[in-house]
Amino acid sequence: MKYHITPSHTFMGTCHVAPDKSISHRCIMFGSLANGITKVSNFLEGEDALSTLQAFCDMGVKIERNDDKVVIHGVGMNGLKAPSKPLDMGNSGTSMRLLSGILSAQPFDSVMMGDVSLSKRPMERVAKPLRQMGAVIQTTGTKGTPPITITGGQSLQAIDYVMPMASAQVKSCLLLAGLWADGTTSIIEPEVSRDHTERMLRAFGYTVVVDKQPHGNKISITGGGQLTACDITVPADISSAAFFMVAATIANHGNITIKQVGINPTRTGVIDILKLMGADICLANETMMGGEPVADIMVKSSKLKGINIPAHLVPLAIDEFPVLFVAASCATGKTILRGAKELRVKESDRIAVMADGLKTLGIDCTVLDDGIEIIGKGDEHQHGKRVFTGGKIDSHHDHRIAMSFTVASLQASDAIIIHGTETVNTSFPNFAGLVNGAGLHVNVKNDVI
Ligand code: S3P
Repeated sequence: MKYHITPSHTFMGTCHVAPDKSISHRCIMFGSLANGITKVSNFLEGEDALSTLQAFCDMGVKIERNDDKVVIHGVGMNGLKAPSKPLDMGNSGTSMRLLSGILSAQPFDSVMMGDVSLSKRPMERVAKPLRQMGAVIQTTGTKGTPPITITGGQSLQAIDYVMPMASAQVKSCLLLAGLWADGTTSIIEPEVSRDHTERMLRAFGYTVVVDKQPHGNKISITGGGQLTACDITVPADISSAAFFMVAATIANHGNITIKQVGINPTRTGVIDILKLMGADICLANETMMGGEPVADIMVKSSKLKGINIPAHLVPLAIDEFPVLFVAASCATGKTILRGAKELRVKESDRIAVMADGLKTLGIDCTVLDDGIEIIGKGDEHQHGKRVFTGGKIDSHHDHRIAMSFTVASLQASDAIIIHGTETVNTSFPNFAGLVNGAGLHVNVKNDVI
């Protein structure tokens, strides 16, 4: 698929963006392993979360789905069955990494594979500590990449693990393996990373101990317990809301309300960074939903200034940098991001791929080993000129690259054509329809090359 997008000026309205992807994955995993029936409302019907759902169906869990309503008949900690074929994780790193922890503790063998993007992503970051716990796990790709093969029937031992990077996926993988391990598994993170696993374990009645450290947390879990089913309503995904937040900020006429978005403090780096840049963002109707804080987010057009992005905000906005680079391009002055090497191993190398796309659209930027410098065109923007030219962009099978350059059309002088937009369905199935409803001109076409 490709998007053919003509320039627009307005981004307005009230909308519900896609449900949270991280939380949707975890509902399926914990619901499947729990005793009893878990009912999920507002489940993300995106391909990534559906890959997780299918994997648990393949392991004998009865899961009924009616649009965004999902009913999971939990099989308990020892009830998963051997899948009859390799588990296909599609584009989803979260599915593959979290399931590595679960599958390492099962009595049966398993294989996981993925699409062209997932097949390039590093899996030794989970395989190595799992081996320390006694797992027999191989990354059979050329560079510690998928497919992953796991030999079941091992008894896992708890470990103390100092994570080399702030990764919620690695942390969650090891906490999940720790559910079956003998003893107390402790993970120390170098910086705080998203804590949905810790929150959901507690919602399912499992004890998790969190000790605050100078930077990240130490999270401990003792194996051998049980999970008890519960009902969960998934909030809207702040990572999906980020496209709407930047769109309303950079539009000449922007005024948007995004309803009931998850504002877990381990995910709100995008709000903090945009506010530091001068964005006009307010929260209203704050409440709790299934152990997670939510709020309506209101955003209006504003003039942005370039900033040095504070290091502690990097893991808290890790998925939002592609669209933040679009915001930085519209700011006055230079924006500098450092300490963000993790961006190089996401669904694409998001530093290189965004830099290529920004240059195509006329933005001066410099790629750094662990970040980027972007010279914003805010001054020209304030004199009524458009920030971006038109041009052709390759999304490199990365949904967030495709959606970020879609937002750039609000400040483009000519059409932007984005190739490889089918992966938008992994996290935000109705993206094009919703942004068009708010004022964009996105035409979705078949991409015949
Ligand atoms: C996720 C964690 C993050 C994030 C990903 C989802 C999760 O990855 O980028 O989109 O649900 O745990 P890392 O843990 O690799 O930073």
